[in-house]
Amino acid sequence: MSGVEHLYVHLPFCGHRCGYCDFVTAVGRPEQHAAYVDALLHELEVERGVLANEVETVFLGGGTPTFTAIAELVRLLEALPAADEVTVEANPETVTPELARALRGAGVTRVSLGAQSFRPHLLDVLERGAQPEDVRRAFAHLRDAGFDNLSLDLIYGIPGQTVADLEADLADAIELGPEHLSCYELEAKPGTRFTHAWGDELARQADAMEDYFERVVSTLTGAGYRWYETANFCRGDLRARHNLGYWLGHDYLGIGVGAVSTLRGERRRNTPKLARYIRGDYDRELELLDDETRAKERVMLGLRLDEPLPLAGIRHALDPVGLARVEQLGLAEQDEETLALTARGRFLGGAVTAELLN
Ligand SMILES: C[S@@+](CC[C@H](N)C(=O)[O-])C[C@H]1O[C@@H](n2cnc3c(N)ncnc32)[C@H](O)[C@@H]1O
Ligand code: SF4
Repeated sequence: MSGVEHLYVHLPFCGHRCGYCDFVTAVGRPEQHAAYVDALLHELEVERGVLANEVETVFLGGGTPTFTAIAELVRLLEALPAADEVTVEANPETVTPELARALRGAGVTRVSLGAQSFRPHLLDVLERGAQPEDVRRAFAHLRDAGFDNLSLDLIYGIPGQTVADLEADLADAIELGPEHLSCYELEAKPGTRFTHAWGDELARQADAMEDYFERVVSTLTGAGYRWYETANFCRGDLRARHNLGYWLGHDYLGIGVGAVSTLRGERRRNTPKLARYIRGDYDRELELLDDETRAKERVMLGLRLDEPLPLAGIRHALDPVGLARVEQLGLAEQDEETLALTARGRFLGGAVTAELLN
């Protein structure tokens, strides 16, 4: 059996915890960075047999990978398998010229920078550690170090964000000229400080979000970006190859605390407890993905893309009545072998997919 070509590596450390975030993170802990990298390399050694001889993509996500002590981050990068695309997520305030050069020198090909917004009052609402000038400075340091594939993350739907604020954020992002942009609607994650403080406000503004989403898409496509996935935009064909692997339903190996893998019909999740993970006790949660679940996931993820979804082997996940209805409404189009959402269908997204599934 051929091996897995996508490797995700989770680095949980952050400078502080943003109120809206529910990822597996740990604040500070400089004394644990080396032990954590040792634990990652141990897990990689144990799992190496799962990986293909040639890995296509490696993605270091977090947390804030670039908050990890530079020497430890470089030690990790140098021990990971080489890949065509090696992405590291970075928070703007952590990007110094030294860090940018270290990443480049260690084989990183792509950096995804968490800008979120360029409006200081909205960054305050999100409790971000970076100001707009930090984003611009980080971007310049990465360019100076030779990076020609940079992505920016933006969030919209921040309480208090007007349409003018959104348009100014998009204009500021476009002005920097990233090769890739991810634009997410702010989600109220259950149990977070943010949801406690702002959950009612997010619910009140929900109706306006369809219009915000349409503005995001029309502004970015108007600036020449390809809307290749519901929340993702790129220049040319500089799609995020690692994430494309998820959306296309490829298997992937995730290592690190709380990391998720999908391997041969099984999804597993490592313990979210840092001390336990460092001890090498993965205490994994396992979920068997039967054929029906896999087919449904393929439909849900595949229809997020701007290319038609091949239906061979997954047709049984579709409800013929629902399919006829969404086709009649002009939300989806199918031919003998493929199914695709129309632009209108893509705006409605999940609601259309739910209608299509058995
Ligand atoms: C796990 S974060 C890690 C990146 C980095 N630490 C940062 O904060 O920029 C990856 C991306 O997920 C998005 N994100 C995190 N929490 C979110 C939420 N509650 N709603 C929408 N997007 C969120 C942000 O855009 C963020 O850049
Ligand atoms: S949003 Fe990013 S920086 Fe903030 S706590 Fe989450 S992972 Fe850390």
